Amino acid sequence: MPIKHCLLFFIILCLPICGFAGRLEPLKDVPVPDQNPQTPAKIELGKKLFFDRRLSGDGTMNCGTCHDPQQGFSDGLDISLNYPTTRNWRNSPTLVNVAFQRHLFHDGRASSLEEQALFPMMSAFEMNQNLDFMEEEIRTVPEYVAEFTQVFGDGDVTRERISMAIAAFERTLISRDAPLDRFLSGDTKVLSSKALKGYKLFTGKGKCIECHYGVNLVDDRFHVLNVPENPEHLKDPRIAATRRFVAKINHFEGYRTLAEDPGRYLISKDQKDWKAFRTPTLRDIAKTAPYMHNGIYATLDEVVEFFNAGGGKGTTVLNPLHLTSTEKEELRIFLEEGLTGAPIIFVYPKIP
Ligand code: HEC
Ligand code: HEC
Repeated sequence: MPIKHCLLFFIILCLPICGFAGRLEPLKDVPVPDQNPQTPAKIELGKKLFFDRRLSGDGTMNCGTCHDPQQGFSDGLDISLNYPTTRNWRNSPTLVNVAFQRHLFHDGRASSLEEQALFPMMSAFEMNQNLDFMEEEIRTVPEYVAEFTQVFGDGDVTRERISMAIAAFERTLISRDAPLDRFLSGDTKVLSSKALKGYKLFTGKGKCIECHYGVNLVDDRFHVLNVPENPEHLKDPRIAATRRFVAKINHFEGYRTLAEDPGRYLISKDQKDWKAFRTPTLRDIAKTAPYMHNGIYATLDEVVEFFNAGGGKGTTVLNPLHLTSTEKEELRIFLEEGLTGAPIIFVYPKIP
């Protein structure tokens, strides 16, 4: 057989096998960057800063406002909360297991927690704080200066150190000991019979595993699923202002006429990324409704139905799954039961 044909034969035979994306893996140790090692004192400082309203311009919001431990470290709204008089445009993602995410934000515009933390503080429609001013505010608090000294060797309060401490705290927000972890570690009885069937659908007929795999059930990629627009986006001019603002600061030329969320395109300016969004984690998914980048789905049943129908209008990455109503229920039960970890328990800090 000529080499050309051999190659073709190899590709046709191998693609369906080699193209298979991955498998689910039990939880591993959290990745920690060398430049920002975890220490108990740093985590404690980060926790205080996370819940400190000094981080917002008008002193009404902290990170926990939109990443509320009682709401699965999200805020329970379709479109997240906002700085007074403005409106946000996207759903607040959970911070649970965020330490495992390679790309941060729905469009992946940040790549480390240290880098990310400064975005909401500066964002006009989130905390709207001036970072120079914030540093001075924190510096006037003797308890903080003492803690910065303990953690970083001197009492200098900088935005970089603030975000390092917050990142260290975020790396402790881990969904542990989910039934899936025990199942994957050999405890075959831990899933109920419906959840087990759901697991098989997740990894088989449902094809969820193609994008949701590994420790955090993500592929670190962006996909154009054509999730329907949130009608709020068309109704509220404040959301239009937010969208144009984000587009403008990301050097999107047509920002004034932009009528939808361009997703990853905003960052990559690559046409294939138009309305592509990052694959989110599914850990603790039962606690973080509503779903998708714009919170369009209130329940997991709606999400499962979306995938069953082959995604949104015109998407080329999904196909109809033809699941029966029992199968859809089993899939949902797996998501709820299998992926919910032990509650993340911590003591709320006393803000100095
Ligand atoms: C007003 C609500 C609000 C506040 C306050 C807020 N966030 Fe967020 N956060 C969001 C929204 C909405 C997103 C998603 C934005 C996007 O993708 O464009 C987000 C995204 C994130 C992400 C990325 C998560 C992921 O899975 O990619 C992290 C990490 C995060 N926020 C941490 C923080 C920290 C730390 C603070 C405080 C300094 C904070 N947030 C304050 C609403 C908020
Ligand atoms: C082609 C890749 C791909 C496949 C296959 C896939 N997903 Fe997803 N999933 C994504 C992306 C990307 C998003 C985020 C979409 C958005 O925000 O607009 C998502 C979002 C979700 C969400 C919402 C998460 C949240 O926090 O908002 C759930 C739940 C979910 N998927 C479950 C499933 C299930 C169940 C299946 C199988 C039936 C599946 N996914 C198949 C890529 C995929």
